[in-house]
Amino acid sequence: MNPLILGIETSCDETGIGIVRGSELLADVLASSVEEQARFGGVVPEVASRAHVEAMVPILKRVVQKAGVKLNELDAIAVTSGPGLAGALVVGVAAAKALAVAINKPIYGVNHLAAHVAVDTLENGELPQPCLALLVSGGHSSLLQVDNISFKINSLGKTLDDAAGEAFDKVARVLGLPFPGGPWIDKASQCGDPLSIEFPKGLMSKEDLVEHKFDFSFSGLKTAVARWVEAWQRTGEILPVSDIAASFQEAVVEVLVKKTLMAAKETGIDTVIIGGGVAANSRLRTMAQSMAEKENIKVRIPRPGLCTDNGAMVAALGSQLFKNQIEPSKITFEVDPILPISVQKN
Ligand code: KG4
Ligand code: ZN
Repeated sequence: MNPLILGIETSCDETGIGIVRGSELLADVLASSVEEQARFGGVVPEVASRAHVEAMVPILKRVVQKAGVKLNELDAIAVTSGPGLAGALVVGVAAAKALAVAINKPIYGVNHLAAHVAVDTLENGELPQPCLALLVSGGHSSLLQVDNISFKINSLGKTLDDAAGEAFDKVARVLGLPFPGGPWIDKASQCGDPLSIEFPKGLMSKEDLVEHKFDFSFSGLKTAVARWVEAWQRTGEILPVSDIAASFQEAVVEVLVKKTLMAAKETGIDTVIIGGGVAANSRLRTMAQSMAEKENIKVRIPRPGLCTDNGAMVAALGSQLFKNQIEPSKITFEVDPILPISVQKN
């Protein structure tokens, strides 16, 4: 059975609504307040919330029209209930509840992080059970064992400090690149030499691999880049932005890929899904594919537009929950800004 599900995402600065039928994506519409946020160098929660309110109804109208469906044909509504910015989440959840009541359909309040994994079904089909997931976004970096996307996800490791995307954003600022920094570092790296500067690789020493085998740490790397830049600036010479970007990116990506493949070997799980905004990174995509191939491990990464926040990912998870006959949320469910990955649905 292929349910028709509408998904709403408002956990950060993107307002996204997607409609899927089973694991087929029918339409995905996105509005972003990133340009308004860029002048502050980061996401201002109040600015994000207001932008969600303004974008919600126009986006809803557009996505329904694009998908060629009627609202009363929907089987269920899914909405991100956490983790994320409280005020931003409230806008999406209020809109989703209003819609669910108006058309008298079930609603699922879902986990944003699980949705970053579930979105892969829209491009690469059903998830093998179990599979591993490397989840790398602006707010989270975790290595997950996904036994069932609807009700059983365990964390094998996570970042002890900055998320991978956060490190990209902070290093970009040091290099004078715009916010959000990930795509700019990716672009600058294309003409840089990744071997030109040796930056530290977090939690990869022998001792760390004993205690923090599947954990990450990026704050030491970020500080090392800042110190390197300060020292260079004292010479008065032009900053080699591309080389710094490429060397930094290489250090992040190498740790992410190596630890993920170590987890695959140790658990004997041969399929890895990579999701979250940083999964759009071109070097991560190529290094993961080429290193995994040598180990006979299959890597699945959705196209870049589905890696960063969007509504289709929420609809994709809603579709999985519906198909697995998971009970919908009560209409009184609340947002949870720190919803853990072990809870897929409120
Ligand atoms: O998943 P996402 O859209 O939002 C969160 O849930 O956080 O991830 C946003 C993060 C930002 O830190 C952004 O800089 C990073 O993903 N990002 C990238 C790339 N595109 C987005 N990082 C590295 N390379 C990219 N191409
Ligand atoms: Zn996200």
